[in-house]
Amino acid sequence: MKILVTGGSGYIGSVTTELLCDDGHQVTVFDNLERGHREAVDPRARLVVGDLRDPRPIREAMHQVRPDAVVHFAAYALVGESMRDPLLYFHNNLTGGLHLLDAMRRSGVRKIIFSSTCATYGQPESMPMTEALPQRPTNPYGESKLMLETAMRWEQERHGLEPVFLRYFNAAGATEQFGEDHDPETHLIPNVLKVALGQADAVPVFGDDYDTPDGTCIRDYIHIVDLARAHILALEKQETGPFNLGTGTGFSVQEVVATCRRVTGHEIPVVLSPRRPGDPACLVAGAEKARDILGWRPRHPDLATIVQHAWDWHRAHPHGYRMA
Ligand code: UFG
Repeated sequence: MKILVTGGSGYIGSVTTELLCDDGHQVTVFDNLERGHREAVDPRARLVVGDLRDPRPIREAMHQVRPDAVVHFAAYALVGESMRDPLLYFHNNLTGGLHLLDAMRRSGVRKIIFSSTCATYGQPESMPMTEALPQRPTNPYGESKLMLETAMRWEQERHGLEPVFLRYFNAAGATEQFGEDHDPETHLIPNVLKVALGQADAVPVFGDDYDTPDGTCIRDYIHIVDLARAHILALEKQETGPFNLGTGTGFSVQEVVATCRRVTGHEIPVVLSPRRPGDPACLVAGAEKARDILGWRPRHPDLATIVQHAWDWHRAHPHGYRMA
């Protein structure tokens, strides 16, 4: 298939592009390289540098490529930043997304796999979290993703768009070639591994008085390759609508740090820090729908394997995609 991937220079986009290329698909990456990395774009893919906030470049790329499907990652994804500057998120994630949908309609492209998030649910009332839960985001990042889901639903109803919403839990791990390199890095596993690499003295643990067994927040960590595979399954199926992507097992911050200690053999000191505003105590996926309908089964549900792969990548790329 001919696939247009927006945001293919980012963490999840780079690995999905790699797997699509492995499967023999013809991939065009559309990316502004603002927060991603040119080096993270698989060399087998064609790169078009453009910004979705401008409607013209994506219109031209869509017209020229005429892909069989679009996989849409390009977005800002920092909850804290979105709380400080909501308009930044609506402008980039929502306006950019609408320009993409407009370009698709003009070129008659219908199928889209959308990188959505469990942050669209907000503070869940029940656990594990299924797609049936109400969506009540508690930050502009989650809201911007939900608003684009809504726009896609209406575009489906009125113009035959075929959207799939993949609502990710916590992406982690790496392939041999591509891994996680954000600036600033806010995610737990890469921050813990930085301490193991000697690039930081200690990991801050944001709160130990949550209503969880050890008092630290629980998350559902999903291997990036498993996440990427779900996109490919969604491309192959005729299904539309939401799918939660997680393993169904949660790990606390303390358990993640302990696993990183075992995998790396480093001591990894922690410092107790105040709670991070907006962090829910526990987010664990109910991913039966993805299993039953997409035939998706995580191949690396084991946290130690996820951490091992992340560790291998960070040791091989101690400064990320930048040269030392
Ligand atoms: N944490 C620490 N110390 C750190 C970093 C994180 O204790 O240095 C804690 C956080 O407080 C949280 C957990 O580790 O309890 C996981 O934090 P991450 O930042 O790795 O991930 P989040 O669960 O906050 O964020 C993820 C995605 C977002 C998405 C969100 C949905 O990265 O894009 O899930 O809630 F919006």
